[in-house]
This record gives sequence, C-alpha cells and structure tokens, in this order.
Amino acid sequence: MLAVQQLEAGYGESVILRQVTLQVRPGQVVCLLGRNGVGKTTLMKSIMGVLKARKGTVTYKGADLTKRAPGERAKKGIGYVPQGREIFPQLTVFENVLLGLEACKEKKRAIPESAIAKFPVLPSMYDRRGGDLSGGQQQQLAFARALASEPELLLLDEPCEGIQPSIVDDIRDVIRSIKAGGETAILLAEQSLEFVKSVGDYFYILEKGSIAWEGGLSDLNDEVIRHYLTV
Ligand SMILES: Nc1ncnc2c1ncn2[C@@H]1O[C@H](COP(=O)(O)OP(=O)(O)O)[C@@H](O)[C@H]1O
Ligand SMILES: [Mg+2]
Repeated sequence: MLAVQQLEAGYGESVILRQVTLQVRPGQVVCLLGRNGVGKTTLMKSIMGVLKARKGTVTYKGADLTKRAPGERAKKGIGYVPQGREIFPQLTVFENVLLGLEACKEKKRAIPESAIAKFPVLPSMYDRRGGDLSGGQQQQLAFARALASEPELLLLDEPCEGIQPSIVDDIRDVIRSIKAGGETAILLAEQSLEFVKSVGDYFYILEKGSIAWEGGLSDLNDEVIRHYLTV
C-alpha cells in the first residue's frame, strides 16, 4: 500500500535520512522505532510531503507521490497526526475537526460519525478553543481531525508523548479498534516499547537516518532492544 524506496531527505545542508526503504500493507500496524533524533519525524514528514525527498520515491497504492504536495497526498487517503499535535489554538475544537474534512477525496459536509465515536468526550468540548485543552485532549482532537477524512493510511508520530496514562490507554484502544476495522493501515512512530508491542504487526528500527533492523513481534527480542533502543 505504502512503499518508501531508497529515500533521502534532510534540512538545508544536512542529510538526515539515507536509503530508507519500508512498506506498509493494507490493515497493518507498522511501527517505527529508534532513539531520539534518528529521523522518525523526518521520515513521517517526507511521507506526508511536508518535507521534500531528495532522492528515492514514495509510492502509495501504485501511484508515485514523490513530487506531490501534502494536500494531494491527504486527498489520496493519507491522514497525519504530527508530533506535538499541531492543534490550531485559536480555533474551536469543532473548527479543528472540520479542518480534517478539507482532506476528503469527495466534498463532505458532515464529520463522519466514525471519527467522533472513538472520542466520546470531544463533542462536549466543541465550543472550547483548541489551545485551552489539555495535552491528552489535544491528542484526541488531532486523532479525530485526521480520522475525519476517513484515511486508509494513518501516520501517527509519537501519539503518547507527554500524555497521561489513562489517555494512553484510550489511544491504544482507538488504534486497536482501527486495526480491527481493517480499513485503515497505520504507520506509528513511538518511543514506548510496551505500547508498540501491544499494537504492532511489524517493526522497523531507524538508526542515524537509516533502517538498521526490521522484523516481526517475536523477532523484537531483548538483544535487539538493548542494541538499538536502550539509551
Ligand atoms: N527543521 C529542522 N531543521 C534542521 N534539522 C532538523 C530539523 N528537524 C529535525 N532536525 C534534525 O534532524 C535529525 C532527526 O530529527 P527527527 O526526525 O525529529 O528525529 P526523531 O523524530 O527520531 O526524534 C535530528 O538531528 C534533528 O536535530
Ligand atoms: Mg520525532
């Protein structure tokens, strides 16, 4: 479904990602692991098109998206929950969710029930400003905003970062229910091993901007963890 091939990307003079190749299949939850600063967010941005690839390709459902703008990628069915959430603080919660509709393939007027049903507290906060919500509530809002366009591929960049444990549990449930629905694949960058192990089907480990290891859940043993992930 998503194929990243030999991707190179960076900022200004510095090359951050080198020869990154990875795949996400329909309905899969693929996890992207690696210590701070290895390039997880840079890779997410390159897949979404927020950052241009310098070499290599990003292919989605057979179409080459490498030169496409982020908005076009969103319309093709890729949803994005960026690290740090990027909620619009001055807009209301409702307006923030509405913005997600902009990414729809067809012009939709209503927020799909499926996007909101997973976050039952959100409608009660619709009139509040995005900036007045707690970190956990903002994360739920960012999720709902991404789900409003009913994406077939969801990019989640550290959704549990700085979130209280009860909401981390909610996010885990949401990821599991998306997975059980079978219609949306997920690429998840996350630091918490316990979390990724509880939801992931396949794992890639980044080290200094390249894929250093990949495998299934049973391959992700203590030695691999010690070698690539222990700080
Ligand atoms: N906007 C930017 N400009 C320049 N360098 C950046 C920028 N964003 C990230 N970097 C650098 O790119 C590297 C990878 O960062 P990042 O992709 O955020 O890593 P991760 O998400 O794995 O923590 C780091 O060395 C970081 O300092
Ligand atoms: Mg990051």
